This record gives sequence, structure tokens and C-alpha cells, in this order.
Amino acid sequence: MRILTTQFAGQVAVITGAASGLGLAISSKLAVEGARVVLLDLNEGALQKAASEVGANAVCFPVDLTNEEQVANVISQVGKEFGRIDVLVNCAGVTGKTNIKSQDVDTADLRFVFDVNFMASFFMARAVLPWMVKQNYGRILHIASIAGKEGNAGMLAYSASKAAVIGMTKVQGKEYAETGITVNALAPAVIQTPMVDAMPAEQVKYMTDKIPMKRCGTLEEIAHMAAFIVSPGTGFTTGFTFDMTGGRATY
Ligand SMILES: NC(=O)c1ccc[n+]([C@@H]2O[C@H](COP(=O)([O-])OP(=O)(O)OC[C@H]3O[C@@H](n4cnc5c(N)ncnc54)[C@H](O)[C@@H]3O)[C@@H](O)[C@H]2O)c1
Repeated sequence: MRILTTQFAGQVAVITGAASGLGLAISSKLAVEGARVVLLDLNEGALQKAASEVGANAVCFPVDLTNEEQVANVISQVGKEFGRIDVLVNCAGVTGKTNIKSQDVDTADLRFVFDVNFMASFFMARAVLPWMVKQNYGRILHIASIAGKEGNAGMLAYSASKAAVIGMTKVQGKEYAETGITVNALAPAVIQTPMVDAMPAEQVKYMTDKIPMKRCGTLEEIAHMAAFIVSPGTGFTTGFTFDMTGGRATY
């Protein structure tokens, strides 16, 4: 049974990568807590299904977030339709090729991973910030990764792109610190989702073996933490990367 709360009542939250995994779990959580949620994803079929699963508080738009024009258009449409944007959670992400050493990294794959993980997160933040500045209120959460803090061997493109996301979070946190806008990141270790299912077993074992709790994180734990970070009450923390690693990174 879902217990309804209202901490996001009257708010509009935009979630990317919302057709699957973390994005879908976070969308459901914010909707249950009273937000009207806007789900964005490339995968149109899965996106429609996700939106109906989230319920009446959800609308969705198919969009390729690596295309800056598409991002600008969809955010302008959301702004016109809803009149405000309070929350952005950037969940869309890809791992690219993994379980390979740096000498075997393919340039096109490296660029592709940066385009989705870093550039798309930047395009989204840039598009929503004017709305948040106008409101003098906003919460941006970039989903980074433990790979961006520590560097996972075999995952150069992914780790470096997530380190870039953490760097962007620090910059944006400072830039908007005198407004009502906070910008934070969340760095999970392994959460069982389609992204992890698609990775080589050896690479997943490398990552899970490092978790002191000896288990993966759950989608419920991610959604709970994300909702806390973007809630109105979390107002005095910005530019920070929250940990979600079962004890792997204690800093
Ligand atoms: N699952 C984990 O263990 C884990 C750990 C650390 C960080 N993360 C991060 O969390 C985020 C979500 O991961 P997940 O495990 O839920 O993955 P997922 O593969 O289940 O979902 C990612 C979603 O992003 C969408 N997407 C990809 N490229 C896109 C694009 N160009 N435009 C629009 N949508 C696009 C996909 O269609 C998919 O629905 C990612 O940024 C990932 O790096 C995940």
C-alpha cells in the first residue's frame, strides 16, 4: 500500500532516464509524495509504460538528451505547460564498453558516453536553471557514480564522465549558492537495474566485491535518498556528492 505524503505538493519535477531503473523509481517516489512528474527518455515504448505505472501525476516526452535542441524544446514546452520547474533529477546514463583497459578504449565510445552522461546532464541543467532562477527556488540532482569518485578499472569512459558530473555539481552549487537553488550529486555503487544486467559479469563482480555491506543497493533506497536530497527541507547543502555505496566510500 502506498502512503501518500505531500512534501512535493504543487511542485513540478523533471526526471531523465525515467523509463527504467533509478529514473523510474525516483519518478514514482516523487509522484507519491505529491509532485507532478515529467518523465524524459529516449526509449519511447518503455517511457509510455513507465508513465502509466507512475500514475495520474505523470506526463512523458520522448527525447534524445544528447541533442541540445531537443532538450531546449522539451523544457520550454514543460515550462509553458506547467508554469514552473522545481526539481531536476538527471538519471539518464550509459556505461559504454567496459571490462577493457585504457589502451583499448575506442574514441567513438568514449565520446558517446560523455555525450550521454555529461553533456546531456549539462544541457538539462542549463535549460531548467532560468526557470529556477526566476522562482528563486530549485533542486538539481545529478546521478553520478562511485566510479566517478574512485575510478573503476575497466571503465575509463564511464568513470571519467561521472567525475566530470561531480566537477559540474561543485561549480553549479557555488554559482547558485546565493539563490534558493541547490545542486547536488549522488554517487551510488551497484544497484541491480537493466544497466547492470547488461554489463559483463566479471565487471559487476569487480564492483560488488568492493561493497562492505556485501550486497547491492535497492531502488527503494535510491528513491528515498534522492527524494531527501531534492526535498524543500534539504536547503543548506549544495555542490555536494552524497554517498550511496554500502560503506565503500566513507568520504
Ligand atoms: N545501476 C547502478 O548500479 C548505478 C550505479 C551508479 C550510478 N548509476 C547511474 O544511475 C543512472 C541510471 O542508471 P540505471 O541503472 O537506472 O540505468 P538504466 O539503463 O536502467 O536506465 C537508464 C535510462 O537512460 C535512458 N537513456 C540513455 N541514453 C539516453 C539519451 N541519450 N536520451 C534519453 N534517455 C537516455 C535509457 O533509455 C534508460 O531508460 C545512470 O546515470 C547511471 O550511470 C547507476
